[in-house]
Amino acid sequence: RRNVLKMSQTEEARTPETTEPEHGERRLGFGALFSRHVISARYADGVWSGTELLDFDDLRMSPAAMVMHYGQAIFEGLKAFRADQRTVLIFRAADCATRFDRSATRMGMPPLPPGLFVDAVTRLISADAAEVPSSPGSAIYIRPVMFADEPSLAVRPSTEFRFLVLASPVDSFFASGRTMIDAYAQRSHIRAALGGTGDVKCAGNYAGAMAAKTEAMSRGCDEVLWLDAVEHRFLEEFGAMNCFVVQGSGASAELITPPLTGTILPGHTRATVINLAQRRGIAVREAPIALDEVLDPDGMISEVFACGTAAGVAPVRTIVTDAGRTRTFGHRPGPITAGLAADYTALVHGALAAEPDWIIR
Ligand code: COI
Repeated sequence: RRNVLKMSQTEEARTPETTEPEHGERRLGFGALFSRHVISARYADGVWSGTELLDFDDLRMSPAAMVMHYGQAIFEGLKAFRADQRTVLIFRAADCATRFDRSATRMGMPPLPPGLFVDAVTRLISADAAEVPSSPGSAIYIRPVMFADEPSLAVRPSTEFRFLVLASPVDSFFASGRTMIDAYAQRSHIRAALGGTGDVKCAGNYAGAMAAKTEAMSRGCDEVLWLDAVEHRFLEEFGAMNCFVVQGSGASAELITPPLTGTILPGHTRATVINLAQRRGIAVREAPIALDEVLDPDGMISEVFACGTAAGVAPVRTIVTDAGRTRTFGHRPGPITAGLAADYTALVHGALAAEPDWIIR
């Protein structure tokens, strides 16, 4: 077993001494350590079968497994959080199951039987509950994935698939450990076009984004700011996260996010943030957001943030463009972003009321 988080390491990560950054402790980071078990199921001859809880270990696969050639693979991402020493809350598993089915259909893959996804996630997290970390900002990130493993080079949908659920104790998402991000807007790559796969969670969307991420990082930024594929004028996503801007301030502040017109992933954190803003009485609008307006220091946009399951609410500090324009929004999160981030944290840890079916405990 490689890179598997041993129970003793979890205990160590949980002690207060190791959660103070100034003491130079080892951060959990994101996706580097794995819990003890995985759930596995297999699809062949038109049926899913053999759902089982296994020890986390390497897989055996044919070199001809179709996923390695044609990339038929989808995944989900959700988290379980500690409410207290005895209680673990799994956030928005049912919504992930629904999106997983949508992704499967788009990628020519079979849906899972109703309940299998949620049962698998619940079973894994009850088996590995002791590995859900409790330090501030930590959680266990749950990764359901389905991929084609029929051994064939034929160019057609696979007839055999594997479904796995694994879990990773995590804290900060960004390699830098930063909580505010700098984003790089460039026009040489696009993330998604209408009719493509941008609104589902397939592995290829992330593969196609890696070179742009490398470029953003080489310019000292944390993420890519993706613009629309047609005019390269409107904000789409920050890396693998949805985006929001705050227009105006005080009582007239309005939260704006791009509409889900087919190129943007319908994020569960996006939906949760909209709900939380409405609870605070903040007006929310889904509308195209022009980069020019975001970059205008004398304009109406005062705050920008990214959001996703992995990073939560991530305030944007600076946007840099390939044309040499830069705007810094501040070195601390703006008031609306900070309020929504605090509400989100409270909600996922069970300190703020959730909507029906959002939480499994
Ligand atoms: C997110 O949680 O924001 C994601 O998009 C998943 C990412 C780690 C690939």
